[in-house]
Amino acid sequence: MTIHQDKPSAFIARRFTASVEAQINERYAAQVNEGDRILNTAQLIEQAQGCEILFCSVTESLPRDLFEALAGSLKVVATLSVGFDHIDLSAARDNGVRVLHSPDVLSEACAEIAMMLLLNAARRGYEADQMVRTDSWPGWAPTQLLGKGLVGKKLGILGLGRIGREFAKRAKAFGMEIHYHNRKRLELGDEDGAIYHETVDSLLSISEFFSINAPGAPALTGFLNKDRIAQLPSGAIVINISRGDMINDDALIEALQSGHLFSAGLDVFQNEPDVDLRYGELKNVFLSPHLGSGTTETRDAMGFVLLNGLSELERGNSPANCIA
Ligand code: DGY
Repeated sequence: MTIHQDKPSAFIARRFTASVEAQINERYAAQVNEGDRILNTAQLIEQAQGCEILFCSVTESLPRDLFEALAGSLKVVATLSVGFDHIDLSAARDNGVRVLHSPDVLSEACAEIAMMLLLNAARRGYEADQMVRTDSWPGWAPTQLLGKGLVGKKLGILGLGRIGREFAKRAKAFGMEIHYHNRKRLELGDEDGAIYHETVDSLLSISEFFSINAPGAPALTGFLNKDRIAQLPSGAIVINISRGDMINDDALIEALQSGHLFSAGLDVFQNEPDVDLRYGELKNVFLSPHLGSGTTETRDAMGFVLLNGLSELERGNSPANCIA
């Protein structure tokens, strides 16, 4: 890749943190999506026309059409996310566009959100908050809002990668027993005592808590369906911080209503931000709006990882966070 001119042109499709935007503006002639509204593909093509660098996030979909429409000018896509299921990487390659993402620096923040979901789902966080907030607390009672304890419970993690391992570390500190399934077993040192299951079925059957931590991929769409939920022990708790389309909403909602599942904690949804409104009617779900990496420190770090990757590309190197 050759980026010439004093200041290459860039389009920032969402508002990044002030410190990241300041650095982008120092280095590039950047236009920003001032209103911070989510742009559809046609709007993105129109606004990024002529730009060499496109800064985006998980809210922008970058299909083949976009790469073809911006061919000739677009050289690099830099997504403020670890996930890249919103980008057609083979179309990027076909059009000579390099793609950078921002892994590693968000693992701890995402693990913290996973713990927030787990604790709130286990200890009935939504109901507890509502009881106090709506002045409907009759006073302390021995059997009020009884939840599930964590000590000695089996947490099954689908996808013990960077984020999964940070989550496992935290859950272990709360006394949980960690189980996992990956396509390939981890090296012993990376397992840190977690118990490997060769099949998803085996993992599901013992998971008193089941957490989806695998990266988004078409093969996992609809993964947690009716049959798989039925394999979870009765009274299990489901956590999802990965991608919403990995869960079949009808199946999850039915299992939460029937009591087969005790509760769920969800940070990601199908068709964000148009969440299935039935979730809002369930007391045994704790919901958060895709906040996994949402701390100032982390969003700064994610932006700087992209800028470092761009510096490497400009020097002719291939940085570790370059995925196309
Ligand atoms: C990611 O990074 O992929 C998250 O979904 C957004 O932080």
